[in-house]
Amino acid sequence: MTSQRHYSPADRLLLQADAALRTLLPFSGQPNRPSPAQAHPDSALDEAQARHVCGLMRINHTGEVCAQALYQGQALTAKLPAVRQAMEQAADEEIDHLAWCEQRIRELGGRPSLLNPLFYGLSFGIGATAGAISDRISLGFVAATEDQVVKHLDQHLAELPTGDARSQAILEQMREDELQHATAALDAGGLRFPAPIKAGMSLLSKVMTKTTYRI
Ligand SMILES: [Fe+2]
Ligand SMILES: [Fe+2]
Repeated sequence: MTSQRHYSPADRLLLQADAALRTLLPFSGQPNRPSPAQAHPDSALDEAQARHVCGLMRINHTGEVCAQALYQGQALTAKLPAVRQAMEQAADEEIDHLAWCEQRIRELGGRPSLLNPLFYGLSFGIGATAGAISDRISLGFVAATEDQVVKHLDQHLAELPTGDARSQAILEQMREDELQHATAALDAGGLRFPAPIKAGMSLLSKVMTKTTYRI
């Protein structure tokens, strides 16, 4: 007897709805690791600085919503069980990032982006489509997405007001994790995407960053 569970399509749909709600409802992601911000005292940011950091953290939070959706979409359609399992595990790790960003946004008196359901839907569709085509493309998407996220994180780290050690600690830990996710996806056989596809993804991420900074 094996202990592996077999889910019917209806079970999978319910699990999927549950995962979507856990990603999109406020305060719903329970992190496995405490926020790296906890080790640092809060810095006195003036109103304009707090608003700016809030905007940056909102972008990062939506990025994590997209990562969740991408992984969940891929897990739905991945062909190899090992790939499916790896996707589900990576999605679990992204929950930490999601929760840490949300905590920081709330500390600064803000709220996550209202556009999150839209970006969730888009990313879920991309993930499910990539997974349905092939596991190599699906893993390639993870690697390319994580590359994009690391670029944002570098930019945001450079833009943080001096002394905002709490935001900095979160972004630095995320950066480390995302680099690992990208390497793991390539090691697992992910396709290295050609430049034009990467350029298309950058364009999409520009739309996301421009809108979620404010909305
Ligand atoms: Fe992440
Ligand atoms: Fe990641």
